Amino acid sequence: MEKKNLDWANIGFNYRVTDKRYVSNWKDGKWDDGALIDDPNVTINECAGILQYCQEVFEGLKAYTWEDGSIVAFRPDMNAERMFNSAKRMEMPPFPQERFLEAVDEVVKANAAWVPPYGSGATLYIRPYMFATGPVIGVKPSDEYQFRMITTPVGPYFKGGAKPITICVSEFDRAAPHGTGHIKAGLNYAMSLHAHVTAHANGFDENMYLDAATRTYVEETGGANFLFVTKDGTLVSPKSDSILPSITRRSIMYIAENMLGIKTEHRPVKFSELKDFEEAGLCGTAAVISPVGRVVSKEETISFPAGMEKMGPVLQKIYDTITGIQAGRIEGPEGWIRRIC
Ligand code: PLP
Ligand code: COI
Repeated sequence: MEKKNLDWANIGFNYRVTDKRYVSNWKDGKWDDGALIDDPNVTINECAGILQYCQEVFEGLKAYTWEDGSIVAFRPDMNAERMFNSAKRMEMPPFPQERFLEAVDEVVKANAAWVPPYGSGATLYIRPYMFATGPVIGVKPSDEYQFRMITTPVGPYFKGGAKPITICVSEFDRAAPHGTGHIKAGLNYAMSLHAHVTAHANGFDENMYLDAATRTYVEETGGANFLFVTKDGTLVSPKSDSILPSITRRSIMYIAENMLGIKTEHRPVKFSELKDFEEAGLCGTAAVISPVGRVVSKEETISFPAGMEKMGPVLQKIYDTITGIQAGRIEGPEGWIRRIC
C-alpha cells in the first residue's frame, strides 16, 4: 500500500483530514451498528447537549508503521477502558470496549495510507470521542449521542521536538478536588484555554497546575503527566485523584521498574521538592516524553541540572525503550501491541 506523499518530518501536531472516520449513534437506548463514513462534518441539533452543557468525553492514542510495513496500535484496550469510565462519570452511555477496539482496527485500516512510514518520526493520532447530540435545555443528560473516531497524522506535540521546554506555574487551577480532572472530558480542556493562552503570551511552552485545594502539590500540565528523576536515579510521578491517569505514565513506570531496573515512586509530590530533582519531563500520547528544562513560578525559577539542551540520561533511556516498543524494535510486555494490518 502506497503511503500519502507528505513531508512527514515536518507535519507538526495539527489536524489534517483523512479518508474515513468511524461513527456510531446512540438512540432509543442503544448503539447502532456503526460504520466508516466519508463526511468529515457533523450536523447536529442547535440545542444538542454538547453545545449547551459540554457533555463530551474523548481519548487519544496512536498507530505506528513497523519496519516490515505492518501497522499496530499501542495499548488501545487501556483507552477503551478509560473512555468507558469517563463516559460513566459524565452520565453518558459507555461505548462497549470490544467495539472500541474493532473501531480502531477499522478506522486505521481504512486510513492506512495516512499512517506515517517507519522511521519518519511521525505517527497516526487516533482521536475517539463521544458527544451529546440530543437536544436539552434544562440541565440534564441528553438522550442521544454520537461516538466518532477520527485519525490524523502527527509529528511532535512541542515545537523543537526533543529540546527541553520551559513551563510556568499557572495562577489558575485545572481540576477541583472530587471534580473531573481524572477523566478525559473536553470541559477540562475548555477551561484550561485561558491559562494556556496566558502562558504562551508570557513566553512559556506549558503550564504546571498545582493542586487546587492547597496549591502546594504538583498535579499535571494541560495535556500530560509529570515525570521527575531524583539525584539517586529514582523515577517519581505525582499522584492525585484529580490527575488524568496517563497510559503513557503507567507504561513508563512499568518499563522502568520491570525492564530497566529503575526504582519508581508514584506519590504526592510537593512543589517545594522540585529543586531537588535532577531531571524533569512530561509524558503522554501526544507528548511522548518531552523534557522540561525549567519551571518558573512567581517566586523562583527552578532549572533542572540535566540541562536545557537535551533530555536527561534516565528519561532518555526510558524514552528509547518505550518508543522502541511502539516502533517494534524492542519486545514489550505481553498484550501491549495490537496488530492491525
Ligand atoms: N494528562 C492530560 C491532562 C492529558 O490530556 C493527557 C493526554 O491524554 C495525559 C495526561 C496523558 O495521558 P496518556 O498517556 O494516556 O495519553
Ligand atoms: C493526548 O496526549 O492524546 C492528548 O489528548 C493530549 C492533548 C493535549 C493533545
